[in-house]
Amino acid sequence: MQKLTLTRPDDWHLHLRDGEALKAVLPHSARQFARAIVMPNLNPPIRTVADAAAYRDRILAALPAGQTFEPLMTLYLTDNTTPEEIIAAKASKFVKAVKYYPAGATTNSDFGVTDIRKCDRIFATMEQEDIPLLLHGEVTNIEVDVFDREKVFIEKHLIPLVSRFPKLRVVLEHITTSEAVEFVLSANHNIAATITPQHLLFSRNALFKGGIRPHYYCLPILKREKHRLVLLQAATSGNPKFFLGTDSAPHARNTKERSCGCAGCYSALHAMELYAEAFEGVDALDKLEAFASFYGPDFYQLPRNTEKITLEKKTWCIPNEVPFPDAGLVPLRAGEEISWQFI
Ligand code: NCD
Ligand code: ZN
Repeated sequence: MQKLTLTRPDDWHLHLRDGEALKAVLPHSARQFARAIVMPNLNPPIRTVADAAAYRDRILAALPAGQTFEPLMTLYLTDNTTPEEIIAAKASKFVKAVKYYPAGATTNSDFGVTDIRKCDRIFATMEQEDIPLLLHGEVTNIEVDVFDREKVFIEKHLIPLVSRFPKLRVVLEHITTSEAVEFVLSANHNIAATITPQHLLFSRNALFKGGIRPHYYCLPILKREKHRLVLLQAATSGNPKFFLGTDSAPHARNTKERSCGCAGCYSALHAMELYAEAFEGVDALDKLEAFASFYGPDFYQLPRNTEKITLEKKTWCIPNEVPFPDAGLVPLRAGEEISWQFI
């Protein structure tokens, strides 16, 4: 039996939700990952250090007995975020980053920033405090084609942003295009990116295989195969600028399978198996540990984990559904076989 032993990984981009939903999904992440950067897009969002402290307490309280997990908190940037809040975030120690969503880009982003230039005062403070900026890197203009929104964001907003704030640490989250990979590769060492399992495993064809498949719909949307191949090359290249962030984003089945379904793929249940399959597909399993367990903490200036985990080469069937409030939750690639198992 082939086994893969790795340093315990962390998830550098995770949606945990709140209340009963949080209770349903947290054990999955805590089983595989030691820590996660927790997204602040609740409704209403986590905008202050006080909000983040209370949310962190709720996450820790929702953790089943016997499991350990460290939530690394983020603040949701709005037009009204103050420099004082950034300074307080840095001083808190448990707030690790600030998340930028363009208003209207994705789930619960209505509070997001209406014009990135309005935040220059905040970015200056973040640069000074050395607190990372996490970007949902898509423009939201309705006239821009949905498949081009990341590329246009990089050209119009990101290149100017990093030239205005050259020392700001930036993570371009859940990258999906060759343009994003090229940008990150050409940028300074303080610019990194996270990559999800779905963008390594699927092209946009998965959205339409035999019919419309809402459980493959996430934002940024899956792209052409040529982009997937570039992402896979980046993830398996051994370049520390690219690291693991699942963007596991749970939505109850009935909110995805409807005339206007929510964006988000659920992968916390089987994240490491999905990544292992993607890396194995290009014969790069030897690059998985650094991508999953080393480059993230290095970028965030945190210690690497010391505990180990094991993946076994063993085929199992991803469940059709896992329990979740209101309706079940459909994991990515539900009902299909996967050839690695986290044990
Ligand atoms: C995320 C969610 O549901 O919160 N959805 C998604 O498709 N990725 C929001 C986000 O990260 O864009
Ligand atoms: Zn996300």
